[in-house]
Amino acid sequence: MSTAATNGPSVADRLSAAGTANALELRGVTRMFGALAALSDITLSIRPGERRGVLGSNGAGKTTLFNCITGDFLATSGTIRFFGEDVTAFPAYERIRRGLRRTYQISLLFAGLSVLDNVYLACRGVSRNRFSLLRPRRNDALMSSAEDLVAAVHLSDVKDDKVATLAHGQQRQLEIALALAGAPRFILFDEPAAGLSPTERSELVEILTSLPSHMGYIIIEHDMDVALRVVDYVSMMHNGRIFKEGTPQEIENDPEVQELYLGGAHA
Ligand SMILES: Nc1ncnc2c1ncn2[C@@H]1O[C@H](COP(=O)(O)OP(=O)(O)O)[C@@H](O)[C@H]1O
Ligand SMILES: [Mg+2]
Repeated sequence: MSTAATNGPSVADRLSAAGTANALELRGVTRMFGALAALSDITLSIRPGERRGVLGSNGAGKTTLFNCITGDFLATSGTIRFFGEDVTAFPAYERIRRGLRRTYQISLLFAGLSVLDNVYLACRGVSRNRFSLLRPRRNDALMSSAEDLVAAVHLSDVKDDKVATLAHGQQRQLEIALALAGAPRFILFDEPAAGLSPTERSELVEILTSLPSHMGYIIIEHDMDVALRVVDYVSMMHNGRIFKEGTPQEIENDPEVQELYLGGAHA
């Protein structure tokens, strides 16, 4: 992209406004930790509304990929565009402001608060009035958004319960509601099915497939049964690189993937 001064919006801004830019566009993204390349030359395009699975063994670089996309870590080299805008050097909060969200492998919930209050605080945190000193009223617009999000993750029955009393699966559902606060454009889910029972996994699949269709995501998931049911396309990672991409069907039937990922080591 030219850095010369121009009149009017840049090409990227116009593409973005016209809705033709990719939701995410990574070019040659590398992330070093000392001498270790946790990510090597990752190039990845995701269309608006697309749902992508990222699969790979432990240490493949999946979470580092998320950290570079969100800005929790900066890429060592390469570029990252979010809806056409170059966000490579942006801090995490600037990316959040533009509609990017994530969930973490480790939970960040307020255990002593109710389900609804956790979601309410997340909605308040990403709203324009977050610094308002007025005491929030129970009937304000944010509270009604919070109620909607609680319903979207199937927790209405327990909305007044304290988080500490929830089952593990319900806590993970609540984390999804927090990521949905403020109507994001794109979400990164880091192993949302980890530690879930089969019933909880089905519920997760239902929640993910019921998200509004314009809302794209990347899901990192060890459980192929979950991952392949909730994505349009899959990227396979190994040693910091993407080594294969395909539809869920292609990935499931691929002999190399079966050997590496579904073989003896995969319990
Ligand atoms: N903050 C960090 N400091 C040093 N090394 C890291 C850090 N985060 C990840 N790594 C290393 O980068 C590689 C990829 O890790 P990670 O992205 O967590 O893989 P995955 O999520 O696929 O299991 C691993 O070798 C890991 O030890
Ligand atoms: Mg990880």
